[in-house]
Amino acid sequence: MSKSPSMTAPVVGNTSGGSFTPAAPGAEMPQRRKLLLAATSAVGAAGAAAAAAPFLASWFPSERAKAAGAPVDVDVSAIEPGMLLRAEWRGQPVWVVRRTPEMLATLDAVKPKLADPESKAPQQPDYAANATRSIKPEMLVLLGICTHLGCSPTDRLAPAEGWAGGFYCPCHGSVFDLAGRVFAGMPAPTNLVVPPYKYLNDTRLRIGDDSKGA
Ligand code: FES
Repeated sequence: MSKSPSMTAPVVGNTSGGSFTPAAPGAEMPQRRKLLLAATSAVGAAGAAAAAAPFLASWFPSERAKAAGAPVDVDVSAIEPGMLLRAEWRGQPVWVVRRTPEMLATLDAVKPKLADPESKAPQQPDYAANATRSIKPEMLVLLGICTHLGCSPTDRLAPAEGWAGGFYCPCHGSVFDLAGRVFAGMPAPTNLVVPPYKYLNDTRLRIGDDSKGA
C-alpha cells in the first residue's frame, strides 16, 4: 500500500532522560521508529483489506441478489383485449394491459385534463415517450406503484361516471388514465413509471431488460 503524503508521521527523536530532543535531519532511523513504521504498515494493510472486503463483495452480487433483479418474461398471448395481467419484477407489481381500440381512443380525449400529457417527465424509457406510452400501442406496461407515496393503485379499466377508465389510487385519490398519465391537481406528481422492457417475439415480453440483440 502506498502511503499518503498527508499521513501523520511517527515521532522521531531521542526521549531518553525525560527530555525530548528532535533528531537531526538525516539522522539514522532509531529502532523505535522502525517498530512504529512496521506496526503502522501492518495495521494499514489489515485496514485496507478489511475495507476492501465489502467493496469487493459488492462487485460480485450473490445469486439471490441477481435473481431479485433479474428480468421477468411474460407471455402476453393469453391477455384478452381490455384485460390486465399482473407480474412482479424486483418485488414490484407490473401491469400489462391489452388495450382495445376504444381504450386507445380515450388517450387523446383526456389530454387537456392531464398534468403531463406528453410524458415529458422521465417516467418512461425513450421508446415509450409517445402518445400511448408503449412500444406497441395496444400493449401497456406499467409499474403498479403510485408516484405519490408508493401505494398500489387499483385498475378501473372500464369507463364509469364520466371517467374513461384508468387507475385509481385509494390512498389519497390520485387518478391516472389508460396510459398511466396522472390527471392534473392530483397528489401524485408524475405519471406512473413505464419499466424497461422489450419483445422477445410476438407473444413474449421481457420486463427489466431492454438491451438490443438478446
Ligand atoms: S399514494 Fe397514491 S395518492 Fe397517495
